[in-house]
Amino acid sequence: MYDLHETARALVAPGKGILAEDESPRTADARLAEHGIATGTEMRRKYREVFLDVPGIEASLAGVILCEETLGQAADDGTLFPELLARKGILPGIKVDAGTEPLDGSPDELITKGLIGLDERLASFRAAGARFTKWRAVMRIEGDRLPTARALVENAKRLASYAHLVQQAGMVPILEPEVLLDGSHSRLRAQEVIDAALHAVFAAMADQAVDRTALLVKTSMALSGSGSSRTDAPDEVAESTLDALKASVPADVPGIVFLSGGQTPEQATENLAAITRRAREAGAPWPLTFSYERALHSEGMDAWKGKDENIPAARAAFLARLSRVTAALTA
Ligand code: 13P
Repeated sequence: MYDLHETARALVAPGKGILAEDESPRTADARLAEHGIATGTEMRRKYREVFLDVPGIEASLAGVILCEETLGQAADDGTLFPELLARKGILPGIKVDAGTEPLDGSPDELITKGLIGLDERLASFRAAGARFTKWRAVMRIEGDRLPTARALVENAKRLASYAHLVQQAGMVPILEPEVLLDGSHSRLRAQEVIDAALHAVFAAMADQAVDRTALLVKTSMALSGSGSSRTDAPDEVAESTLDALKASVPADVPGIVFLSGGQTPEQATENLAAITRRAREAGAPWPLTFSYERALHSEGMDAWKGKDENIPAARAAFLARLSRVTAALTA
């Protein structure tokens, strides 16, 4: 039995982060299609191979979150992806939620599903080598109307139930209440919603006896909405993001990781640098790092185009971004 506190600390080890390689098959196909690449099971396996079977990623990655399909797939040489990662000293993780559906009574909002049968699924993920897990809830901002308090509370309760089951199953839960970038809201409104969503999550965890010293929080940065025509300066993002986190995340939580959420790779790098710099200056209590998907992948996807002859260029682009994002942790 691994020690959960130790695993949580290892995932946010200094100078390292987490790659979110966990899009569902449908989302992964959409990503491939966006880049003009063919879709389907084998192309998705190839996509994982391009970004996971890369010499040297272990210098920057403490963990990789996989989806259920990838957990059971193998690299070209037949090594299962979780084993390939473990051999590099990278912790394999698994996204365990089953996506979202409209929230009963508030159809413009989403609730995350996947609790039914979760304990049996967790046992099989653990047996397949997963050491940590992720559950994503989604909050949409629309003026002062959304998210509703009920959406925050219902999603928080499920996040807490999930975290309890995962700790019982001997893995570290990552709780991700994502506040979407879509919308015309201000950065301060995003800050307020991040704070409220995390407050709801910690209240629900207290009710369900979750050990908050054996988990990680995954959050959005506080940013003006993508439809607001405002681009925030990195120092503004850092101030608002850390204010939201200081107000809502207890000091004994072992780490906080950020999603990129549709920011460009450059924005996600510069904002992370500003956040970690400010956190160091202010003596923030938790280690902070990245858990990006799009910001780490998109340049490599552009270079790959689904063609074998482009794999070296795709991996070089990915590694270049990975090393810039990693450097942002101490910039
Ligand atoms: P992005 O970095 O592309 O937002 O993905 C991270 C993630 O895991 C979202 O659930």
